[in-house]
Amino acid sequence: ARCMGRREASLASNYTQTSEFADLDWENLGFGLVQTDYMYTTKCGPDGNFDKGGMVPFGPIEMNPASGVLNYGQGLFEGLKAYRKTDGSILLFRPMENAMRMQTGAERMCMPAPPVEQFVDAVKQTVLANKRWVPPTGKGSLYIRPLLVGSGAVLGLAPAPEYTFLIFASPVGNYFKEGLAPINLIVEDKFHRATPGGTGGVKTIGNYASVLMAQKIAKEKGYSDVLYLDAVEKKYLEEVSSCNIFVVKGNVISTPAIKGTILPGITRKSIIDVALSKGFQVEERLVSVDELLDADEVFCTGTAVVVSPVGSITYQGKRIEYAGNQGVGAVSRQLYTSLTSVQMGQVEDPMGWTVQL
Ligand code: COI
Repeated sequence: ARCMGRREASLASNYTQTSEFADLDWENLGFGLVQTDYMYTTKCGPDGNFDKGGMVPFGPIEMNPASGVLNYGQGLFEGLKAYRKTDGSILLFRPMENAMRMQTGAERMCMPAPPVEQFVDAVKQTVLANKRWVPPTGKGSLYIRPLLVGSGAVLGLAPAPEYTFLIFASPVGNYFKEGLAPINLIVEDKFHRATPGGTGGVKTIGNYASVLMAQKIAKEKGYSDVLYLDAVEKKYLEEVSSCNIFVVKGNVISTPAIKGTILPGITRKSIIDVALSKGFQVEERLVSVDELLDADEVFCTGTAVVVSPVGSITYQGKRIEYAGNQGVGAVSRQLYTSLTSVQMGQVEDPMGWTVQL
């Protein structure tokens, strides 16, 4: 393994920040990039073994113009959050899940992935180095963005000969401009996000560029985002551009089953467990678009969106409104509160999901 360079080593021992909090308007965080002090970086060659890596100042990276990621999209990303507790300590939420999901995605994209332990350790280093950017309790969170990209040069279509694993972080508030207010979705009937056998089930960067067009059109029409249907029968719910979807009917909460075209969200999985623990019946199955018509509530889940209530869904020109339209639906609210109080360390963590820094 490569030894840490002198610059990295001196930075690593120099995290003592001059002030407890960065100079930022903590009251008005949205989901835009706020550049922080440091990023983690490491590389590996064709043997697939990543160097020890370390922190360097946040900033532009050098990339060969012939790199696999720039030319052929060989890249994956992850997203997780760190919250500040009232005692000043910091909690990570299920970082090992992100590490394992990156490994699954890397296999699909023919890339080597960092070992789980290295991934989690790198996340911790990134958060600690940028500690002054973790928002005060109740003002938001530090969004952590791990990236794994084919940085080595290729010309013919082939896996890159070198990979870079990088983590940067940014303080964030609410993802949608609606804040915690219900969002308005439109069912997409022209574009598809994923097809069977494709890469919809992994967090590859290309899945996100390909939804920009539908998202742009929807936003121009005043919708918050797009709800995708399956590409084969155009009948079953898949997911929203950046989050999973749940439909509530009485005591039953249903969400599309993970069958390769849907991103296996960590918030999705956590909400399923929270709902079961609260006595709801949870069904992972094919959810027909027709079920939107008589649902009581609909909500989205994701690391960035947390739990976002859906106020309306427009399908084939018809607008369906939900309990949450006038405020947040009772079930969405209950699940949001249960999950975020664990994430923020306000209640016991019976599942052992949080990692204290
Ligand atoms: C996340 O929720 O962390 C994501 O990766 C979605 C992204 C589009 C912000």
